[in-house]
Amino acid sequence: MDCFDLYLPAPGGAAELLADEIATLLNHPRQTLQVQRSGVALRADWDAVLRLNLHSRIAQRVLVQLHAGPYHNEDDIYAAAAGLTWEDWFTPQHTIKVEVTAQRCPLRSVQFAALRVKDAVCDRLRARRGARPSVDTARPDVRLHLHLQEQRLLILLDTSGEPLFKRGWRDDQGDAPLKETLAAAVLAATGWPRTVDEAPLPLVDPFCGSGTLPIEAAQHLLRLAPGRARRFAFERLLPHDASRWQALREQARAAERPWPRGQAPLIHGSDVSFRMVDFARRNAQRAGVAEAVLLRGGDALQRLPPVANPGVLVLNPPYGERIGAAGVAGALGADEFWQRLAAHWKAHWGGWTAWILSPDTQLPRRLRLQATRRLPLFNGPIECRLWRFALQGRTTKNDHGEYENDAD
Ligand SMILES: C[S@@+](CC[C@H](N)C(=O)[O-])C[C@H]1O[C@@H](n2cnc3c(N)ncnc32)[C@H](O)[C@@H]1O
Repeated sequence: MDCFDLYLPAPGGAAELLADEIATLLNHPRQTLQVQRSGVALRADWDAVLRLNLHSRIAQRVLVQLHAGPYHNEDDIYAAAAGLTWEDWFTPQHTIKVEVTAQRCPLRSVQFAALRVKDAVCDRLRARRGARPSVDTARPDVRLHLHLQEQRLLILLDTSGEPLFKRGWRDDQGDAPLKETLAAAVLAATGWPRTVDEAPLPLVDPFCGSGTLPIEAAQHLLRLAPGRARRFAFERLLPHDASRWQALREQARAAERPWPRGQAPLIHGSDVSFRMVDFARRNAQRAGVAEAVLLRGGDALQRLPPVANPGVLVLNPPYGERIGAAGVAGALGADEFWQRLAAHWKAHWGGWTAWILSPDTQLPRRLRLQATRRLPLFNGPIECRLWRFALQGRTTKNDHGEYENDAD
């Protein structure tokens, strides 16, 4: 079977995590994957393209690299694009779009360079197939990527179409939702679901917003493929093998593990905004995980552990100097909010591990806790850290049936 050079962009800072995921998904030797600053490159067959699109939680897209080489000017770019066998991939009836990115590119206009690629594709198809494809910038059938470095150009074909964080379940979202791919990278970094005595640890997001972290966690636990509810650009390309794709989708369905009816959920999300909780519940329903996740309203400054055995807190709290405005304490300065939260965790969440994604470099000082890990991750353009804190103490049940920390 033919092999291709693939490139999978990752959320900023998550390329290593993506490489671990790819190695597991494809059963591919980890050392053969090239981890780059913004993604992972590998050589693999078309089956891998389909499987990565369907199963990768962290990749933003799956791109096939069709050309990599030196260039000096726009004519070199035209010649490189005109030399590719586009007629093997699509027809003049497909619509196309060329997207361009650049790093230290010496050309005066990268948009003009993208235009030259479009011209080359159209000229080639007119010469070989008698007509040229038209451009659709909103919903193209085929997306091409031109990446210009200082002296090298890359031309890539996008097999995903809409970026992979669009899983097809999120209709309702709040003001600052995490992208699903970043949420998946955060969860991968925590190592969840880590098992104790073969049981996965409970997971709680007390600032769940529209539910991205709990829903991603639940889909992972139930082995629901992230791409199960969406379409992909490769379905419209000429090499598409519909029966092979159908077989892969059926395999994925057969591997799903529905949450046992009536069993208490292991994954919990809460938010002080009931509107957000409502969004999160609807999203969980569409994502097929409603049975496995308990979502409810509540202030993180009051939320108690839902179960006796300590697990993992994963949170992406609001950013900024004044936070928690809607909570019991009203608008607090960041120092006071985090001190109150730390005091609450110390009293009730002993034994749990908290992972916090935040751009606040002062977080350990504000919490008066020492971070045991600190992983740089980008939330879009915002540079964040994923901090890990081990919360001290031991939890027991009180007279009201609530779990509390009985250490100091
Ligand atoms: C950055 S957003 C979380 C976004 C979420 N990860 C998502 O993907 O939709 C922060 C959330 O914290 C909630 N929040 C603010 N103060 C809170 C508090 N004291 N207790 C619980 N939730 C709070 C907000 O309502 C908001 O939904």
